[in-house]
Amino acid sequence: MFYYGVDYYPEHWPEERWEVDANLMELAGINVARLAEFAWVKLEPKEGYYDFSWLDKAIDILSKHGIKTVLGTPTASPPMWLVKKYPQILPRDKDGNMMGPGGRRHYCYNSPEYRELSERIVTAMAEHYKDNPNVIGWQIDNELGCHESNRCYCDNCLLKFRDWLKKKYGTIENLNNSWGTIFWSQTYTDWDEVIIPRRTVGAHNPSLLLDFLRFVSDSTIEYQNLQVEILRRICPDKFITHNFMGLFGGLDYYKLAETLDFVSWDNYPKFRGKPNPARIALSHDVMRGVNRNRPFWVMEEQSGAAGWEIFGSHPLPGEIRLWAYQSIAHGADGVVYFRWRTCRFGTEEYWHGILDHDGIPRRRYEEVKKMGEELKTLTEIKDSIYKAETAIIYSYDIRWAFEIQPNNPDFSYMDQLQKYYTGLFNQHVLVDIVHPLADLSKYKLVIAPSLYLMTQEIKENLERYVKSGGTLVVTLRSGVKDWNNVVTDKTLPGELAELLGIEIEEYLSMFPDETYHIKGVGPERFNFKAICESLKSKSAEVLAFYEDGPFAGKPAVTINKFGGGEAIYVGADVDLNYIESLLFWLITRSRVNVIAMGSRDVEVTVRENSNGTFIFLLNHSDKSETIRLLIPGMIEEITLEPKDVKIIKR
Ligand code: GLA
Ligand code: ZN
Repeated sequence: MFYYGVDYYPEHWPEERWEVDANLMELAGINVARLAEFAWVKLEPKEGYYDFSWLDKAIDILSKHGIKTVLGTPTASPPMWLVKKYPQILPRDKDGNMMGPGGRRHYCYNSPEYRELSERIVTAMAEHYKDNPNVIGWQIDNELGCHESNRCYCDNCLLKFRDWLKKKYGTIENLNNSWGTIFWSQTYTDWDEVIIPRRTVGAHNPSLLLDFLRFVSDSTIEYQNLQVEILRRICPDKFITHNFMGLFGGLDYYKLAETLDFVSWDNYPKFRGKPNPARIALSHDVMRGVNRNRPFWVMEEQSGAAGWEIFGSHPLPGEIRLWAYQSIAHGADGVVYFRWRTCRFGTEEYWHGILDHDGIPRRRYEEVKKMGEELKTLTEIKDSIYKAETAIIYSYDIRWAFEIQPNNPDFSYMDQLQKYYTGLFNQHVLVDIVHPLADLSKYKLVIAPSLYLMTQEIKENLERYVKSGGTLVVTLRSGVKDWNNVVTDKTLPGELAELLGIEIEEYLSMFPDETYHIKGVGPERFNFKAICESLKSKSAEVLAFYEDGPFAGKPAVTINKFGGGEAIYVGADVDLNYIESLLFWLITRSRVNVIAMGSRDVEVTVRENSNGTFIFLLNHSDKSETIRLLIPGMIEEITLEPKDVKIIKR
C-alpha cells in the first residue's frame, strides 16, 4: 500500500472536531497520520505520570476511518516542568550562555539527565503502544540538529568531546601531531587541557573545528540510537524512521540513516524563494542516497504557504500535486502533508496546512483529494527502485571542512554539487548521490565535486572505478587535505595526481567582481569565478584553456586515460553553461542512456520493479510543454498541461 498522509495535531483542537477531521481525511484518500511529536507535556503532564488516554482516542477515531498512525517520540520539545527541575539539560552557546526554553530543541544531546528522561518517555510510549495494531511505526524526535541545536558548548559536551578524541587518537601526542598544535603554541600536555571551540580571539585550529563538527554529529546520532534501541526491543514489528531535512548539513546523514528502517524527510519547495525543480530533485536524491537507494518517505510535504513571522506564496493550483508526485518520482513510497490544518496559535500561526485556520476544505484540500483518488490506482509502483546510471559523490566531512574554510567567499561546495547535478538534470539524466566509498561499478559516469579531503581508501576507490572502465569528473580544490584537515605536502592534486595525469602549478582566489573565460575546441567561451587553478599536463590531454585572466594560455580542463577509463579534471569554478556542454559530451562518450529530449521544464524519472518500468513526466512550467521520450520501444512525443504529471507504465 502507498502511504498518503497528514501531520495531525489533535492536541491543538477540541475533541469534538477530531471525528470531522478524520472523516474529511478519509474522503481525501488519506490512510496515515503522524501524531504527537511535540506533545510531551500532554503525554507526561507531571514527572512520571503518564496520560495516553487522549492519544488513544485520537488513534482510535482515525483508525475507524482507515487511517493508521505513525507516532513521533516527543523529545524535540522538553516541557517547562522538566526544564525547571533539570535546568542542566539546557544547551550553551559559543559564549557559554545558556539557551533558555521558549522555542523548541532546547536540550543538550549529551546531557545524561536528558538522555535518561528521554529514555523514560520513549519506554512508556513503547510499552503502551506495542500491541496497538493501528500504530504502524515510529518517528524518532523531530528534525534532529534543526536550528543548529546540536552545536552545544556546555561543560558536559567538553568532557564528552575529550573522551571522543581519546578514542580517536589514543595518545595526546598523536592528537598534537594530527592537528599541528605546535602552531601558535597550542600543544596539549594533558587531555584536560583540550578545549571545545568556544568563542576565542582570532580563530580556532581547523582540525579541532572539523573534529568538533564530527563529534556533534556523532553525539546526535548516539542520542537518536538510544531511542531506536528501546523501540526495537519493545516494538520489534513496527518500523522506525526519522524526518531528515534534505540538504541540511549539520550532521552526517549517511550515519544517521544506518539504524533506521528507512529515511523520511521534510520537503518545502516554496519556503524561501521560488521553487527550483532541480534543487528539490537534488534534495530527494540526497535523501534516497543516504537511504542506500531504497524507497523513502516524505514525512512533511508542503501543502500551504510557509513561514513563521512572514509567510510565502501558497502553492499555485497543481503545485501540491506536482511536488507530491515529484517525491514519488524520485523514490518515495509515502507522502505525508504538513499539516492537516493551520494552527491558530504559537510560533507557526502562518505555516499553512491543507485546511486554513477556519477548518473549511477549499482548493488545496480538493487537490490533495484528487491525488488521493489517483494514488489508489498506482499501488504497483510501491517498492520500485530508481534507475540512475550516473552518480555524484557527496561527503559531509568535506562539506564541514569547507564550512570552516570556504577558501573564497564566492565558492561553495554545495553550489558545486548543485551545478553539476543541474547540468545532468537539465539533460534528463538520472543521478544517484553516493558516499565517497560507495561501490561505483554500476555507474557509467561519476562526478566528484571538490574532493577537498582525501584518504587512501577514497583514492583507491576512485582509481579502481576508472581503471575498470569508468568515467570520472573531479573538480577544483581536490586532494588538498588529509582527513584531519591538514594540507598535504604533495604537489596538488595530491593523492589524485596519477589518476588525473596533471599537476597544479598555481591556484588563485579571485575578487568578487572578477570573471574570466575558458575556451575549449568550439568557438564558445565560458565564464568562471571565485577560484581557478593553472594545470600542467603530465599524461592528460587538454580539453579547455584559460582564455584571459592571470592564467591565460594555461590548461584549465583535462582528460586522462587511466586503465580502461578516463578521468577529467575541471580546474576552475566554471558556469553552468560549460558544465552542461562538458557533461553532454561525456554522456555520449560514456554511453549514458538519455531518456528524453525537449522541454527542460519537464522532468523525467524512471522507477522499476517486477511489475514493470514506470516513467514519470512532470511539467514544472506554467505553460504546456512537449517532451520526446527516447526509451526503446517508447519513442514518442508527449505534451503535458501546465503543472501536470503523467505516469507511463511499460
Ligand atoms: C519543520 C518541522 C515542523 C514544522 C515545520 C514548519 O519541518 O519538522 O515541526 O516546524 O518545519 O516550520
Ligand atoms: Zn552540551
